[in-house]
Amino acid sequence: MLLPSFDSLRDKFVSLFGKYVVAGLCKVFLFSGIILYLASIFLFKDPDCTSPYELLEFSNNLPKSPISHFISSNDTNPTNLSHLVFGLLGSEKAWQYRKNYIESWWRPKLTRGYLFLDVVPTANLLPWSKNSPPYKVSHNITKLVQETQHVAPIMARMVHGIKEVFELEEHKGVRWVVMGDDDTIFFLDNIVDVLAKYDHNKYYYFGAQSEYILSNFWYSFNQGFGGAGFILSYPLAKALAEDMDSCLRRYPFLRSADLITMACIVDLGVSFSPLKGLHQIDLTGDISGLLSSHPKAPLMSLHHFDAVAPLFPTMNRIQSTRHLMKASKFDQSRMLQQTICHHRSSNWTFSISWGYSVHIYERIMPRSYLLNPIETFDAWSNKHDEKRPLYMFNTRSSANDSCETPHVFFIKSIGETRGKNENLVTYSRSVVRRLPSCPAGGNHPANYVYKIQVYSPRTKRTEMDRCECCDVFHTVGSNIAKVKLRECFINEKIA
Ligand SMILES: *[C@@H]1O[C@H](CO)[C@@H](O)[C@H](O)[C@H]1NC(C)=O
Ligand SMILES: *[C@@H]1O[C@H](CO)[C@@H](O)[C@H](O)[C@H]1NC(C)=O
Ligand SMILES: *[C@@H]1O[C@H](CO)[C@@H](O)[C@H](O)[C@H]1NC(C)=O
Ligand SMILES: *[C@@H]1O[C@H](CO)[C@@H](O)[C@H](O)[C@H]1NC(C)=O
Ligand SMILES: *[C@@H]1O[C@H](CO)[C@@H](O)[C@H](O)[C@H]1NC(C)=O
Repeated sequence: MLLPSFDSLRDKFVSLFGKYVVAGLCKVFLFSGIILYLASIFLFKDPDCTSPYELLEFSNNLPKSPISHFISSNDTNPTNLSHLVFGLLGSEKAWQYRKNYIESWWRPKLTRGYLFLDVVPTANLLPWSKNSPPYKVSHNITKLVQETQHVAPIMARMVHGIKEVFELEEHKGVRWVVMGDDDTIFFLDNIVDVLAKYDHNKYYYFGAQSEYILSNFWYSFNQGFGGAGFILSYPLAKALAEDMDSCLRRYPFLRSADLITMACIVDLGVSFSPLKGLHQIDLTGDISGLLSSHPKAPLMSLHHFDAVAPLFPTMNRIQSTRHLMKASKFDQSRMLQQTICHHRSSNWTFSISWGYSVHIYERIMPRSYLLNPIETFDAWSNKHDEKRPLYMFNTRSSANDSCETPHVFFIKSIGETRGKNENLVTYSRSVVRRLPSCPAGGNHPANYVYKIQVYSPRTKRTEMDRCECCDVFHTVGSNIAKVKLRECFINEKIA
């Protein structure tokens, strides 16, 4: 089911963006990176392309008050959930359906923040669900939009939301402002753990690039894509909030909320830092290949659930989301972390994406190879399908090949072991792999394995300098394979 939302509006502007904006402005200004952009300010003197430079003049009004005080500046306690405030951008029309995504991760009374709606909710949304974030109706910025003849009023409203969420919570010990969409799923514990490693009194602009190379090219390689969620430290959020009206006046010709946000942040002297655990998911189709080879970084967000196939083939989108979140309640630190080990007597390779999937290959494969996702998915825009590279990472072919195609298992259930010192995740076979056995591995078919039990310590794994290792326990002929995760030995090779 596809519903209109700001997110899909964002997407529409991809095509509009190229068409109208470029026509009015210098390509150099828009499509080269920030370095070129800055260089162009000094080097480029084409009198026919003056608009960007005139617009920059607005930035003469320096911030009135430097960062004067923050309540939490002397609070040296480690960062916890109470220090984060979320601003989610949604539309009234899509909320009835989309709230299922947000309620899967939102913790009522513990998570702080608001959903910003375009209009007052109608009766069918009332009384407002206690499991949803409280809502606010976005400020009416019609006057500003009209004055500046902003080309994309909806985008201006979204950017303005950053100021609105900040002003609502400024004086309550906020350390980080997290912005997301109405179809972004956040993994709160991991976000807290990642942010706790940074000094919130410094200026940070965290986010994620698109997986699809051309999206980054069309918008910017230097911006955080809004659906993945972007995160601003307190002083940056404050500076941006104070500069907001001026910022919207400087860039009335930009049609993308994320691009306007980036332009304004960069004007404040801060640059974008991508984080590998945030995911825009500018992909379509079956993304299980990507989720089975997640980078070794804590999973922080997922997005675009209505654009991709359900994460589990036997469930719908909302059931899939809830199913995935069940595992994340047991151990977020290991969520989607890829652990690889070999069963030498059968020449099998096990690749586990914790809490999601297990793959068995019928030959020995090195870790370096399995880190590349199998290309089960399609590009965001099929118009450009022929032109490779499409993605910001290497992929493996999804060809139907007895040595390359894994036996696929998805999470079925999760619980604690009886001794309560381990988590036990059970994965069951997804489909029968209708292929002969792999000759390169010595013809040891894994067709009869239908269940895999993965044991892992119940302790959170926060030091991510190295992956975990594992051991496979399986007797030839048994339908069940057991795998135990553990720290790697000092010189252990995963190959
Ligand atoms: C923070 O601590 C410094 C010195 O330790 C002190 O001068 C300052 O007043 C304190 N600020 C607040 C807001 O408590
Ligand atoms: C979070 O940190 C604050 C201090 O900034 C502290 O008062 C509060 O108890 C902490 N909350 C939790 C759940 O640890
Ligand atoms: C927003 O403000 C404009 C004038 O600035 C007004 O005409 C319009 O009715 C307002 N819209 C809403 C929904 O209040
Ligand atoms: C893969 O190949 C086998 C025969 O070798 C065939 O039965 C099966 O349908 C193929 N699967 C796909 C997805 O093409
Ligand atoms: C595993 O594969 C290697 C390399 O192909 C082969 O030499 C070896 O005999 C195989 N082992 C078994 C038990 O099939």
